Amino acid sequence: MTTTAPDVEPNPLREGLEQERVPDASCLVIFGASGDLTQRKLIPGLYSLAHDGLLPAGQTIVGFSRSDYTDDEFRKLMREACDKHARTRPVDDAIWENFAKGLFYVRGNFDEHQAYVELKKRLGEFDKTRGTGGRRIYYLAVPPDYFPLICELLGKEQMVNDPEKDGPYTRAIIEKPFGHDLESARELNRVAVSTFRERQLFRIDHYLGKETVQNLLVLRFANGIFEPFWNRQYIDHVQLTVAESIGVEKRGAYFESAGITRDIIQNHMLQLVSLVAMEPPVAFEADAVRDEKVKVLRALREFPKGKEAELAVRGQYTDGSVLGEEAIAYRREENVDPKSNVETFAAMKVFIDNWRWADVPFYLRAGKRLPKRVTDISIHFRPAPYPLFNKMSNVKMQSNILSIRIQPDEGISLKFDSKIPGPTVRTAPVTMEFRYATSFGAEPPEAYERLLLETMLGDSTLFARRDEVETAWDWLDPLLVAWAKDARGPELYPAGNWGPPSADALIERDGRSWRRP
Ligand code: BG6
Repeated sequence: MTTTAPDVEPNPLREGLEQERVPDASCLVIFGASGDLTQRKLIPGLYSLAHDGLLPAGQTIVGFSRSDYTDDEFRKLMREACDKHARTRPVDDAIWENFAKGLFYVRGNFDEHQAYVELKKRLGEFDKTRGTGGRRIYYLAVPPDYFPLICELLGKEQMVNDPEKDGPYTRAIIEKPFGHDLESARELNRVAVSTFRERQLFRIDHYLGKETVQNLLVLRFANGIFEPFWNRQYIDHVQLTVAESIGVEKRGAYFESAGITRDIIQNHMLQLVSLVAMEPPVAFEADAVRDEKVKVLRALREFPKGKEAELAVRGQYTDGSVLGEEAIAYRREENVDPKSNVETFAAMKVFIDNWRWADVPFYLRAGKRLPKRVTDISIHFRPAPYPLFNKMSNVKMQSNILSIRIQPDEGISLKFDSKIPGPTVRTAPVTMEFRYATSFGAEPPEAYERLLLETMLGDSTLFARRDEVETAWDWLDPLLVAWAKDARGPELYPAGNWGPPSADALIERDGRSWRRP
């Protein structure tokens, strides 16, 4: 059951929700509480929810990991984390005080049966003292290798309620990577569903928590003007860019086993593709939305065997400079093999073989150490059917582009041609712009805030379903296998460039070019 909080001001940033929803109090247990994610995203996100009046009274957060902290030491550490990372800064002492009363810590190894006994006991106490009513959310902020063990011990200690039976809910939040390929993803899912039912699982893809990503659905399906043009008849092609200026930072070891394709394209980027390309769902409900998204993934055209390079290229950064600062080559980063062939950039031309998108190319590119951080989707429309103005020598018609800026400077703009005022017919491209900052005047909530709240509310619309994850791997696996076998490795590009020359060639062969977002 969910309740509305009468004393909370409606927030215009949360489109589609007529009233703010406040969930019932639960115990949220964070496995891996001493890790980076907890300090950078989870606790600051939860604090900001409390700040905005969206956390229920009695909400209890329990850190669980190997480090030895008392409750008070854990609270102190988390306060420092919020001082550094919370969206709603400076931290308000009165709100913090109240929030910190719900913060606890249990020390334990993930493979230590006794630690789960202790955890269970403490959770039971909170049910009595804080009104959490047996409701449990387990956040597995741990590497996937630990999943089987944690699932098994939670099951053994009877800490997971079956949703088919009456009783308080149990939910589990899982972080990516959801596998390394199709087989490992299936195995992870098999392990997860041996303890939880699919509807108890919340697989986080933090892109789905971004306001601008959610707004894709509102843009497409709450407005009458876009959908009639949203198809092969009017759209020439679509471009998606996820560019980062940062390198792999301290995550060299992880990146060596992932590469940009597994890190960004398999999850965040395919989520964007599905939202741009999906059919209208029959309802704005978890399964209705995800059914449509998965259909898009199923329609992705396979890469032609032996000719992958015609449709997909990969790159790796070398020494260079980004935003005026020197950047070292990927192969010189910490914990990276000096001969590594892992790709830090990938670009591909993708087709969605269905009625709506037949033969419309989707050009995707993602990379690290590119000139700037920007995530952008641009819809390039076909030219006008008859080039009336092209006959005039000083008129150069450009294509209409709808561009959706996911981050930063979140917004949407539409580019079209306009007559330059004056006695002769001359045209120039102009843009109509919507910017979140000017229209709503407030910073949108962090993705994790929204996703944590949705889990407490039990709404899995913004989470990846098992078949989405597996279908995405099913499509990408053959390309990754082909790349692994290809001794040529990735093409090098200096840090601070928009990827290797072959990325430009990929799109220029078609008489098009990458839009500089
Ligand atoms: C993560 C990737 O999922 O997303 C990182 O593992 C990447 O490599 C990050 O930097 C990008 O997220 P955002 O929200 O900054 O675009």
